[in-house]
Amino acid sequence: MKLSAFTYFAAFGIKTILFRKKKPILGTVILTDKCNLKCKHCSVNNITAVIHPYSQIRNEMQTLYSMGCRILFFCGGETFLWRDGEKSVRDLVIEAKQMGFLIVNVVTNGTFTLDLPEADLILLSLDGDRERHNLIRGETYDTIMKNIRSAASDNIVLYMAINKLNVSTVQDVIKTAETECNIRAVSFNFHTPYPDTADLMLSLDEKQQCASVIRDAIEKGSPIFNLKSALPYLVNNSFPTPCHQCVVIENGKISTCGRCIEIPGLCEQCGYFFVAEYTLLFRGNLRIMFDMLKTYLRYI
Ligand SMILES: C[S@@+](CC[C@H](N)C(=O)[O-])C[C@H]1O[C@@H](n2cnc3c(N)ncnc32)[C@H](O)[C@@H]1O
Ligand code: SF4
Ligand code: SF4
Repeated sequence: MKLSAFTYFAAFGIKTILFRKKKPILGTVILTDKCNLKCKHCSVNNITAVIHPYSQIRNEMQTLYSMGCRILFFCGGETFLWRDGEKSVRDLVIEAKQMGFLIVNVVTNGTFTLDLPEADLILLSLDGDRERHNLIRGETYDTIMKNIRSAASDNIVLYMAINKLNVSTVQDVIKTAETECNIRAVSFNFHTPYPDTADLMLSLDEKQQCASVIRDAIEKGSPIFNLKSALPYLVNNSFPTPCHQCVVIENGKISTCGRCIEIPGLCEQCGYFFVAEYTLLFRGNLRIMFDMLKTYLRYI
């Protein structure tokens, strides 16, 4: 991370903590909800299947920038399905950097060619070993591994949503992150139980077991892009929600934290690690602050 970016984030953090501000720093633009997959745990694919036009996406990026966001995520549906004429996701990443965003990340299912060296991170969903991943995401594991190996850059972070179907394979994904080329780290979430996938939610016991595998891996130096000190809060869902420093924009509509904010009772069962990590950080939790500094400087 550049020193100028680091200074900007440090100043933002201090102001937010001292004055209990609710200004956002992290914004996500949903490029489309269209997707080429239909994963068992996902409730947000192909609801409209509209690919939003470039002019609209550009306006949305500008809106987030003017709200104060300096970390930008592009997400979907499947993000790599986005195109408008000659423009691709890569053009959006380059434009976001020119606009002044300090960190620009893309989330993808990894089934398309990965040619995005300008992104700070490509968060690529891998949901277990070959068998469990394919059970959840269809027969895509081999294509994804081929795309990872032939990627144009080494900015890939595996992204695993842990649920009842793949809970036994956390260690396999850590091993993949340790051994495959072009992968910088792995980042986890626990399944968030949307009404149509509530049966995939982990029990307290399962969350405890996962947290202990993740904690042990962090302690032995494995590349994990999560904060050890946030794990107990995630296991017990005892972190504050929603995250006021995060906003999502989809088809002109802005939501605080996530599109899921409208689902009654969901925030109390939230499994998204970024929510715990950011809300605890901005409440001034010193262990989280120290952990975040260490982790972010290692991977970005
Ligand atoms: C909605 S997808 C969009 C980007 C891309 N299609 C992908 O699969 O990475 C973003 C991430 O959310 C995760 N996800 C989907 N539903 C979830 C849920 N209920 N709880 C936790 N993570 C979830 C996916 O596994 C994926 O890593
Ligand atoms: S690839 Fe992503 S958006 Fe598509 S169904 Fe799977 S999790 Fe949902
Ligand atoms: S805290 Fe609520 S709005 Fe935020 S990601 Fe979790 S469920 Fe969604």
